Amino acid sequence: MEIVICSDAAEAGRLGAAIITALLRRKPDAVLGLATGSSPLAIYDELAARRDAGEVSFAQARGFTLDEYVGLPADHPETYHNVIRKDFVNRVDFAEDAVHGPDGLASDIPAFCSDYEAAIAAAGGVDLQILGIGTDGHIGFNEPGSSLSSRTRIKTLTKQTRIDNARFFEGDIDRVPTHCITQGLGTIMSARHVVLVASGSSKAEAVHHMAEGSVSALWPATILQHHEHVTVLLDEGAASRLQLGSYYRETYQAKPDWQGL
Ligand code: GLP
Repeated sequence: MEIVICSDAAEAGRLGAAIITALLRRKPDAVLGLATGSSPLAIYDELAARRDAGEVSFAQARGFTLDEYVGLPADHPETYHNVIRKDFVNRVDFAEDAVHGPDGLASDIPAFCSDYEAAIAAAGGVDLQILGIGTDGHIGFNEPGSSLSSRTRIKTLTKQTRIDNARFFEGDIDRVPTHCITQGLGTIMSARHVVLVASGSSKAEAVHHMAEGSVSALWPATILQHHEHVTVLLDEGAASRLQLGSYYRETYQAKPDWQGL
C-alpha cells in the first residue's frame, strides 16, 4: 500500500487524475471502477478539465460503479446511477452504455448480482478501482462485519452510514434507504489497481485502521492490506491519525519520478 499525504484535496485530485490519464494512454479501453461520494470529486473535476483540454479520452473506456441504494425510484437524484452521471460520466466522453451499475430496482436481486459479477469478468475485470472510505471503514457499501471475500450482494446499511448520508436526503435519516447492492470486498480485491482517496479528519480513524490496523471485518477496508497495488491519496486531516505518517512522507518525497504511482 502506497500512502501519499497531499497538501490538500485538490492535490490528491490531480494525482488521482494523473494515474487514470496514464492508464488510458497505455490502455484506451481500460475498465474503470467508479465510486460515488464526495471523496473522488476532485479527481473527477480534474479529469473533466483534462478531457476538455484534449489530454485524455474515455471514448473507448468502460466503467462499473460500486454500489447502489435499493428501492429508490429511477428518477431520484440520489440514485448512484444518476449521481455518477452528474458528477463524472456526463462531463467526459464515455460512449453511450459504457458505464454500468447495480440495479436497485431489480426484481431478483441475487440473480442480478451474479449477472453483474459476470459482466465485470466479461469486460476483462477492473483495471483501476477508485474508492472512498466511510467513517466506519466501509468501502463500497461493505459495512463492518462484511465477509472479506464477499462478492456483489445486497447489504443492510448501518445506522452510522445512514446518518452520514442523510445530508443527501434533506437531513432526514428516515429518507435514506435501508438497503443497498454493493460490489463485495472480494470483487474490489480483484481490481488490478486500487486508488483510494480520503479527506478530512472525520476519516482519520478509518484511514489509520485501513493502513495500520489488524485485518478484520470490523474495519472492512483493512482487506486492502492484502492487495498488491493500492495507492492511498490523503489530505492532512485524513492522515492525522497515522502512526507512520513521517515515514510515508519521507518515502514519497524520495521516490524517483520514473517509478510513477
Ligand atoms: C458512501 C459510498 C462509498 C463512499 C462513502 C464515503 O457510503 N457508498 O462508496 O466511499 O460513502 O463517502 P464520502 O466520500 O462522501 O465521504
